[in-house]
Amino acid sequence: PLRGPLTGRHVLITSGPTHEPIDPVRYIANRSSGAQGAALAAACRDLGARVTFVTGPASVPPPAGVDVVRVETALEMLAAVQGALPADVAIFAAAVADWRVANAGAQKLKKTEGGLPVLEFSENPDILATVSAHPHRPALVVGFAAETHDVAAYAHAKRLRKGCDWIVANDVSPGTGIMGGSDNAVHLITADGSEVWPMLPKTEVARRLANRIAAVLPPGTGD
Ligand code: C5P
Repeated sequence: PLRGPLTGRHVLITSGPTHEPIDPVRYIANRSSGAQGAALAAACRDLGARVTFVTGPASVPPPAGVDVVRVETALEMLAAVQGALPADVAIFAAAVADWRVANAGAQKLKKTEGGLPVLEFSENPDILATVSAHPHRPALVVGFAAETHDVAAYAHAKRLRKGCDWIVANDVSPGTGIMGGSDNAVHLITADGSEVWPMLPKTEVARRLANRIAAVLPPGTGD
């Protein structure tokens, strides 16, 4: 393992989409590739951290040298995150489904003459908000916000609502190419205000964030 400013620290990262089953063969998903989360895991690893990487079914593979926990649904992701605490830092880069199908079929839904299935939904737990209010809250909790307009304003409100320390916000409007692409342009929202970062490769956004994290962490036990 590499030694660096995050040596002796445990960093927990969620990444990728979740899949919410409709029946045993069908699910609801989203377009998250998991690229930014994988880049963050690699960047924290490179600074010496022990990384637990809780990932939904992403199209980008997890980096080497991190502890990978594979999950499918939001409920599984919450359980995996709770099982991985305590951590010094938690970064929530996953695109968690807001809703799951409440009336998911135990068997494959069948076409019936003249009938259409009706899906009912229940709300998924907010993993970021849960960990931000947790008795074993990490010293630094970082959320992401994907917005299509008024990015900084919504991100400021989200930071307060979720109880996290930082929000990394990006504009995912169609045409930016950010979702599924290799570059990202983010705003970093902290208690001190916000910064606008230029368009950078997701790997470089990850490196800069990992260095910022190392710089603000309170002194720990190290190893
Ligand atoms: O509210 P919104 O989904 O925009 O918040 C995004 C942030 O919250 C991301 O950091 C995401 O990983 C996290 N989140 C979560 N659990 C949810 C929904 C979002 O951890 N159920």
